[in-house]
Amino acid sequence: MILVTGATGNVGRNIVRGLLDAGEKVRAVTRDPETAGLPAEVEVLAGDLNRPEGLGPALEGVERVFLFPVFGALDGFLSAAKAAGVQHVVLLSSSAVEFAEPGWIGQAHLDCEASVAASGIGHTFVRAGLFMRNDLGWAGQIASGVVRGAYGTAAAAPVDERDIAAVAVQSLLAAQDGSIHTLTGPESLSQIARVAIISEVIGRPLRFEELSREVALDHLSAQMPPEAASFLLDQLASWQGVTAEVLPTVEQVTGRPAHTYREWVQHHAAEFLAG
Ligand SMILES: NC(=O)c1ccc[n+]([C@@H]2O[C@H](COP(=O)([O-])OP(=O)(O)OC[C@H]3O[C@@H](n4cnc5c(N)ncnc54)[C@H](OP(=O)(O)O)[C@@H]3O)[C@@H](O)[C@H]2O)c1
Repeated sequence: MILVTGATGNVGRNIVRGLLDAGEKVRAVTRDPETAGLPAEVEVLAGDLNRPEGLGPALEGVERVFLFPVFGALDGFLSAAKAAGVQHVVLLSSSAVEFAEPGWIGQAHLDCEASVAASGIGHTFVRAGLFMRNDLGWAGQIASGVVRGAYGTAAAAPVDERDIAAVAVQSLLAAQDGSIHTLTGPESLSQIARVAIISEVIGRPLRFEELSREVALDHLSAQMPPEAASFLLDQLASWQGVTAEVLPTVEQVTGRPAHTYREWVQHHAAEFLAG
Protein backbone atom coordinates (compact mmCIF):
# COMPACT_ATOMS: atom_id res chain seq x y z
CA MET A 1 0.00 0.00 0.00
CA ILE A 2 1.29 3.47 -0.92
CA LEU A 3 -0.01 6.51 0.95
CA VAL A 4 -0.16 9.75 -1.03
CA THR A 5 -0.38 13.02 0.88
CA GLY A 6 -1.08 16.16 -1.12
CA ALA A 7 -3.05 13.83 -3.43
CA THR A 8 -5.48 16.57 -4.44
CA GLY A 9 -2.65 18.90 -5.50
CA ASN A 10 -1.21 19.62 -8.93
CA VAL A 11 1.62 17.14 -8.50
CA GLY A 12 -0.26 14.72 -6.23
CA ARG A 13 -3.15 14.03 -8.65
CA ASN A 14 -0.64 12.98 -11.29
CA ILE A 15 1.18 10.77 -8.77
CA VAL A 16 -2.07 9.00 -7.89
CA ARG A 17 -2.76 8.37 -11.60
CA GLY A 18 0.78 7.11 -12.20
CA LEU A 19 0.69 4.71 -9.25
CA LEU A 20 -2.69 3.31 -10.28
CA ASP A 21 -1.41 2.83 -13.83
CA ALA A 22 1.58 0.94 -12.36
CA GLY A 23 -0.86 -1.41 -10.61
CA GLU A 24 -0.21 -0.14 -7.07
CA LYS A 25 -2.75 0.05 -4.27
CA VAL A 26 -3.17 3.71 -3.34
CA ARG A 27 -4.51 5.40 -0.23
CA ALA A 28 -4.84 9.20 -0.05
CA VAL A 29 -5.24 11.56 2.87
CA THR A 30 -6.98 14.86 2.40
CA ARG A 31 -8.45 17.38 4.77
CA ASP A 32 -11.73 17.14 2.84
CA PRO A 33 -12.62 13.73 1.34
CA GLU A 34 -16.00 15.11 0.15
CA THR A 35 -14.38 17.42 -2.39
CA ALA A 36 -11.22 15.39 -3.14
CA GLY A 37 -12.47 14.10 -6.53
CA LEU A 38 -9.95 11.24 -6.65
CA PRO A 39 -10.35 8.09 -8.82
CA ALA A 40 -12.72 5.45 -7.43
CA GLU A 41 -9.89 2.90 -6.97
CA VAL A 42 -8.23 5.15 -4.37
CA GLU A 43 -8.99 4.64 -0.68
CA VAL A 44 -9.57 8.20 0.52
CA LEU A 45 -9.24 9.03 4.22
CA ALA A 46 -9.62 12.29 6.10
CA GLY A 47 -6.36 13.53 7.60
CA ASP A 48 -4.40 16.67 8.37
CA LEU A 49 -0.59 16.63 8.65
CA ASN A 50 -0.94 19.30 11.32
CA ARG A 51 -2.87 16.74 13.42
CA PRO A 52 -0.67 13.61 13.27
CA GLU A 53 -2.52 12.02 16.21
CA GLY A 54 -5.42 11.36 13.83
CA LEU A 55 -3.32 9.69 11.11
CA GLY A 56 -3.06 6.17 12.59
CA PRO A 57 -5.69 4.60 10.29
CA ALA A 58 -4.14 6.26 7.23
CA LEU A 59 -0.73 4.72 8.03
CA GLU A 60 -1.95 1.19 8.77
CA GLY A 61 -0.30 -1.33 6.41
CA VAL A 62 1.53 1.39 4.46
CA GLU A 63 5.03 0.61 3.10
CA ARG A 64 5.78 3.76 1.13
CA VAL A 65 4.62 7.38 1.33
CA PHE A 66 4.62 10.37 -0.98
CA LEU A 67 5.04 13.26 1.43
CA PHE A 68 3.81 16.74 0.59
CA PRO A 69 5.96 19.40 2.31
CA VAL A 70 3.50 21.00 4.71
CA PHE A 71 5.94 23.47 6.27
CA GLY A 72 6.56 22.97 10.01
CA ALA A 73 4.22 19.97 10.23
CA LEU A 74 6.26 16.91 9.24
CA ASP A 75 7.86 15.71 12.49
CA GLY A 76 4.66 14.36 14.06
CA PHE A 77 3.67 12.63 10.83
CA LEU A 78 7.14 11.08 10.43
CA SER A 79 7.16 9.71 14.01
CA ALA A 80 3.78 8.12 13.39
CA ALA A 81 5.00 6.74 10.04
CA LYS A 82 8.14 5.23 11.60
CA ALA A 83 6.05 3.63 14.36
CA ALA A 84 3.66 2.24 11.72
CA GLY A 85 6.56 0.55 9.87
CA VAL A 86 6.77 2.79 6.78
CA GLN A 87 9.88 1.81 4.79
CA HIS A 88 10.34 4.69 2.37
CA VAL A 89 9.26 8.33 2.05
CA VAL A 90 9.44 10.35 -1.17
CA LEU A 91 9.44 14.04 -0.26
CA LEU A 92 8.48 16.81 -2.68
CA SER A 93 11.21 19.41 -2.24
CA SER A 94 12.61 22.35 -4.16
CA SER A 95 15.79 22.98 -6.14
CA ALA A 96 16.02 26.21 -4.10
CA VAL A 97 17.65 24.12 -1.36
CA GLU A 98 20.74 23.99 -3.61
CA PHE A 99 20.99 27.77 -4.12
CA ALA A 100 23.93 29.58 -2.48
CA GLU A 101 21.25 31.61 -0.73
CA PRO A 102 18.22 29.32 -0.34
CA GLY A 103 16.00 32.18 0.85
CA TRP A 104 12.69 31.73 2.65
CA ILE A 105 11.37 29.02 0.32
CA GLY A 106 14.64 27.08 0.16
CA GLN A 107 15.01 27.16 3.95
CA ALA A 108 11.45 25.90 4.46
CA HIS A 109 12.23 22.96 2.15
CA LEU A 110 15.63 22.36 3.80
CA ASP A 111 13.80 22.07 7.13
CA CYS A 112 11.42 19.50 5.60
CA GLU A 113 14.36 17.50 4.20
CA ALA A 114 16.09 17.61 7.61
CA SER A 115 12.94 16.26 9.29
CA VAL A 116 12.75 13.38 6.81
CA ALA A 117 16.47 12.59 7.12
CA ALA A 118 16.20 12.60 10.93
CA SER A 119 13.19 10.24 10.91
CA GLY A 120 15.32 7.17 10.22
CA ILE A 121 12.97 6.15 7.38
CA GLY A 122 14.46 5.42 3.92
CA HIS A 123 13.89 8.44 1.69
CA THR A 124 14.13 10.17 -1.69
CA PHE A 125 14.09 13.93 -2.22
CA VAL A 126 12.45 15.15 -5.43
CA ARG A 127 13.81 18.69 -5.76
CA ALA A 128 11.63 20.41 -8.33
CA GLY A 129 12.63 23.57 -10.12
CA LEU A 130 10.18 26.30 -11.07
CA PHE A 131 6.80 24.78 -11.99
CA MET A 132 5.39 25.56 -15.47
CA ARG A 133 2.10 25.55 -13.60
CA ASN A 134 2.94 28.93 -12.00
CA ASP A 135 2.30 30.53 -15.39
CA LEU A 136 -1.41 29.69 -15.11
CA GLY A 137 -1.33 32.73 -12.81
CA TRP A 138 -1.28 34.70 -16.08
CA ALA A 139 -4.59 33.19 -17.27
CA GLY A 140 -6.72 36.03 -15.89
CA GLN A 141 -4.77 38.54 -18.03
CA ILE A 142 -5.00 36.68 -21.35
CA ALA A 143 -8.27 38.30 -22.47
CA SER A 144 -6.71 41.77 -22.12
CA GLY A 145 -3.91 40.75 -24.53
CA VAL A 146 -1.23 41.89 -22.04
CA VAL A 147 0.59 39.84 -19.40
CA ARG A 148 2.21 42.05 -16.78
CA GLY A 149 5.15 41.09 -14.59
CA ALA A 150 8.62 42.04 -13.45
CA TYR A 151 11.89 41.02 -15.11
CA GLY A 152 10.50 39.82 -18.47
CA THR A 153 13.94 38.71 -19.72
CA ALA A 154 14.43 36.46 -16.67
CA ALA A 155 14.99 32.92 -17.97
CA ALA A 156 14.19 29.63 -16.30
CA ALA A 157 13.76 26.01 -17.37
CA PRO A 158 10.35 25.37 -15.81
CA VAL A 159 9.15 21.82 -15.30
CA ASP A 160 5.77 20.21 -16.06
CA GLU A 161 3.87 18.92 -13.00
CA ARG A 162 3.32 15.62 -14.88
CA ASP A 163 7.10 15.13 -15.01
CA ILE A 164 7.59 15.91 -11.32
CA ALA A 165 4.90 13.33 -10.57
CA ALA A 166 6.44 10.75 -12.92
CA VAL A 167 9.79 11.07 -11.14
CA ALA A 168 8.04 10.76 -7.77
CA VAL A 169 6.23 7.62 -8.98
CA GLN A 170 9.50 6.02 -10.12
CA SER A 171 11.04 6.99 -6.77
CA LEU A 172 8.18 5.31 -4.91
CA LEU A 173 8.54 2.17 -7.01
CA ALA A 174 12.36 2.00 -6.73
CA ALA A 175 12.52 3.09 -3.04
CA GLN A 176 16.26 3.79 -3.23
CA ASP A 177 17.35 5.20 0.13
CA GLY A 178 19.25 8.50 -0.05
CA SER A 179 18.41 9.25 -3.69
CA ILE A 180 17.99 12.88 -4.72
CA HIS A 181 16.43 13.97 -8.02
CA THR A 182 16.80 17.61 -8.99
CA LEU A 183 14.45 18.50 -11.83
CA THR A 184 14.17 21.15 -14.51
CA GLY A 185 12.19 21.30 -17.71
CA PRO A 186 13.88 20.70 -21.10
CA GLU A 187 14.51 24.30 -22.25
CA SER A 188 15.59 27.70 -20.99
CA LEU A 189 12.88 30.29 -21.71
CA SER A 190 12.45 33.91 -20.64
CA GLN A 191 9.07 35.08 -19.39
CA ILE A 192 8.68 37.04 -22.64
CA ALA A 193 9.37 33.87 -24.67
CA ARG A 194 6.85 31.88 -22.61
CA VAL A 195 4.13 34.47 -23.19
CA ALA A 196 4.88 34.27 -26.94
CA ILE A 197 4.44 30.47 -26.86
CA ILE A 198 1.12 30.80 -25.01
CA SER A 199 -0.02 33.31 -27.63
CA GLU A 200 0.88 30.94 -30.51
CA VAL A 201 -0.71 27.87 -28.92
CA ILE A 202 -4.01 29.47 -27.94
CA GLY A 203 -4.17 31.70 -31.01
CA ARG A 204 -4.63 35.02 -29.18
CA PRO A 205 -2.42 38.11 -29.53
CA LEU A 206 -0.42 38.59 -26.31
CA ARG A 207 2.51 40.69 -25.19
CA PHE A 208 4.53 40.96 -21.98
CA GLU A 209 4.50 44.35 -20.22
CA GLU A 210 7.17 45.14 -17.68
CA LEU A 211 6.07 46.08 -14.13
CA SER A 212 8.27 47.71 -11.52
CA ARG A 213 9.49 45.46 -8.70
CA GLU A 214 7.33 47.40 -6.21
CA VAL A 215 4.10 46.86 -8.14
CA ALA A 216 4.93 43.20 -8.84
CA LEU A 217 5.66 42.66 -5.13
CA ASP A 218 2.24 44.07 -4.26
CA HIS A 219 0.53 41.71 -6.73
CA LEU A 220 2.50 38.61 -5.68
CA SER A 221 2.07 39.29 -1.96
CA ALA A 222 -1.67 38.81 -2.47
CA GLN A 223 -0.98 35.21 -3.60
CA MET A 224 1.82 34.08 -1.24
CA PRO A 225 3.64 35.12 1.96
CA PRO A 226 5.52 38.41 1.37
CA GLU A 227 8.87 36.67 2.12
CA ALA A 228 8.15 34.15 -0.63
CA ALA A 229 7.11 36.92 -3.07
CA SER A 230 10.27 38.85 -2.31
CA PHE A 231 12.42 35.73 -2.77
CA LEU A 232 10.75 34.98 -6.10
CA LEU A 233 11.46 38.50 -7.36
CA ASP A 234 15.09 38.26 -6.22
CA GLN A 235 15.38 35.05 -8.22
CA LEU A 236 13.84 36.62 -11.32
CA ALA A 237 16.18 39.61 -11.03
CA SER A 238 19.19 37.30 -10.94
CA TRP A 239 17.94 35.29 -13.94
CA GLN A 240 17.67 38.29 -16.31
CA GLY A 241 19.37 37.62 -19.62
CA VAL A 242 20.94 34.33 -18.53
CA THR A 243 20.48 30.86 -20.00
CA ALA A 244 18.99 28.60 -17.34
CA GLU A 245 20.58 25.25 -16.59
CA VAL A 246 18.72 22.29 -18.11
CA LEU A 247 19.08 18.98 -16.27
CA PRO A 248 18.52 15.53 -17.85
CA THR A 249 16.96 14.05 -14.68
CA VAL A 250 13.37 13.61 -15.89
CA GLU A 251 14.47 11.54 -18.88
CA GLN A 252 17.07 9.61 -16.86
CA VAL A 253 14.55 8.62 -14.19
CA THR A 254 11.43 8.07 -16.31
CA GLY A 255 13.00 6.88 -19.59
CA ARG A 256 11.10 9.48 -21.66
CA PRO A 257 11.82 13.13 -22.47
CA ALA A 258 10.50 15.89 -20.25
CA HIS A 259 7.44 17.72 -21.60
CA THR A 260 8.23 20.96 -23.42
CA TYR A 261 6.64 24.26 -22.44
CA ARG A 262 4.61 24.18 -25.68
CA GLU A 263 3.22 20.74 -24.75
CA TRP A 264 2.38 21.99 -21.27
CA VAL A 265 0.47 24.99 -22.71
CA GLN A 266 -1.40 22.68 -25.12
CA HIS A 267 -2.41 20.55 -22.11
CA HIS A 268 -3.75 23.65 -20.30
CA ALA A 269 -5.03 25.66 -23.29
CA ALA A 270 -8.64 25.55 -22.09
CA GLU A 271 -7.64 27.02 -18.72
CA PHE A 272 -5.73 29.86 -20.40
CA LEU A 273 -8.69 30.56 -22.68
CA ALA A 274 -11.20 30.43 -19.82
CA GLY A 275 -9.09 32.77 -17.64
N1 LIG B 1 5.58 26.43 -7.60
C1 LIG B 1 6.86 26.17 -7.79
O1 LIG B 1 7.51 26.71 -8.71
C2 LIG B 1 7.55 25.17 -6.91
C3 LIG B 1 8.87 24.78 -7.16
C4 LIG B 1 9.47 23.82 -6.32
C5 LIG B 1 8.76 23.30 -5.25
N2 LIG B 1 7.47 23.72 -5.04
C6 LIG B 1 6.73 23.17 -3.89
O2 LIG B 1 5.68 22.36 -4.37
C7 LIG B 1 4.58 22.43 -3.47
C8 LIG B 1 3.29 22.73 -4.25
O3 LIG B 1 2.91 21.56 -4.96
P1 LIG B 1 1.46 21.48 -5.66
O4 LIG B 1 1.37 22.60 -6.63
O5 LIG B 1 1.26 20.11 -6.15
O6 LIG B 1 0.51 21.77 -4.42
P2 LIG B 1 -1.02 22.26 -4.42
O7 LIG B 1 -1.66 22.01 -5.74
O8 LIG B 1 -1.03 23.65 -3.85
O9 LIG B 1 -1.69 21.28 -3.37
C9 LIG B 1 -1.45 21.35 -2.01
C10 LIG B 1 -1.71 19.96 -1.42
O10 LIG B 1 -1.25 19.93 -0.07
C11 LIG B 1 -2.23 19.31 0.72
N3 LIG B 1 -2.15 19.89 2.07
C12 LIG B 1 -1.95 21.19 2.39
N4 LIG B 1 -1.96 21.33 3.74
C13 LIG B 1 -2.16 20.09 4.26
C14 LIG B 1 -2.25 19.58 5.58
N5 LIG B 1 -2.14 20.38 6.65
N6 LIG B 1 -2.46 18.25 5.74
C15 LIG B 1 -2.57 17.44 4.66
N7 LIG B 1 -2.48 17.86 3.39
C16 LIG B 1 -2.28 19.16 3.20
C17 LIG B 1 -3.54 19.64 0.05
O11 LIG B 1 -4.45 18.61 0.38
P3 LIG B 1 -5.99 18.82 0.81
O12 LIG B 1 -6.36 20.24 0.51
O13 LIG B 1 -6.73 17.82 -0.03
O14 LIG B 1 -6.02 18.47 2.27
C18 LIG B 1 -3.17 19.60 -1.44
O15 LIG B 1 -3.32 18.28 -1.93
C19 LIG B 1 4.94 23.52 -2.44
O16 LIG B 1 5.46 22.94 -1.27
C20 LIG B 1 6.03 24.29 -3.11
O17 LIG B 1 6.92 24.91 -2.20
C21 LIG B 1 6.84 24.62 -5.84
